[in-house]
Amino acid sequence: MDKKIEIRFEKNNEVNAEELIDIFKSVEWRKNPNNIVEAFKNSYYITAYHGEKLIGFARAISDNCYYTNIFDVIVRPEYQKKGIGKKKMLMLRDTFKGTYFFLTYTEGRKEFYEKCGFEENDRAMWIHIYKS
Ligand SMILES: CC(C)(COP(=O)(O)OP(=O)(O)OC[C@H]1O[C@@H](n2cnc3c(N)ncnc32)[C@H](O)[C@@H]1OP(=O)(O)O)[C@@H](O)C(=O)NCCC(=O)NCCS
Repeated sequence: MDKKIEIRFEKNNEVNAEELIDIFKSVEWRKNPNNIVEAFKNSYYITAYHGEKLIGFARAISDNCYYTNIFDVIVRPEYQKKGIGKKKMLMLRDTFKGTYFFLTYTEGRKEFYEKCGFEENDRAMWIHIYKS
């Protein structure tokens, strides 16, 4: 981690939709403000702060026994490549140790997750059922 900036990590703290949406926008992801608050409420999440500024987060859904899914690992562009993403991943790994962890990644992010200890698995499947 870059020693010049002091980053504070929190767990399941109070966060507001605007701050979350703003971070999604910073990496050009679009999320529905109503849904994202609900999604965070139903997840275990880690937030990262520089002073009072929310600069990233990562969230997980786990049965805390067998399986953990990881979603929305994001660091604001100006704070990337300082070890913040990996630190959040290691915190999630530590919180849910004893379980298998799953995630999907966007293009160009495979190496980041490999650096966090993940390996490709060719027996995972997914489907998205749209609301009518
Ligand atoms: C992916 C992301 C979370 C990484 O966060 P970060 O704080 O920049 O990553 P870190 O600095 O902790 O990097 C940890 C390691 O992964 C490497 N790494 C990070 N991003 C990488 C990338 N895109 N390609 C290759 N390696 C990468 C780093 O060089 C570092 O390697 P090291 O341990 O050998 O020094 C961040 O780039 C991001 O928010 N991207 C936009 C949103 C996104 O794509 N999220 C993931 C969706 S699947």
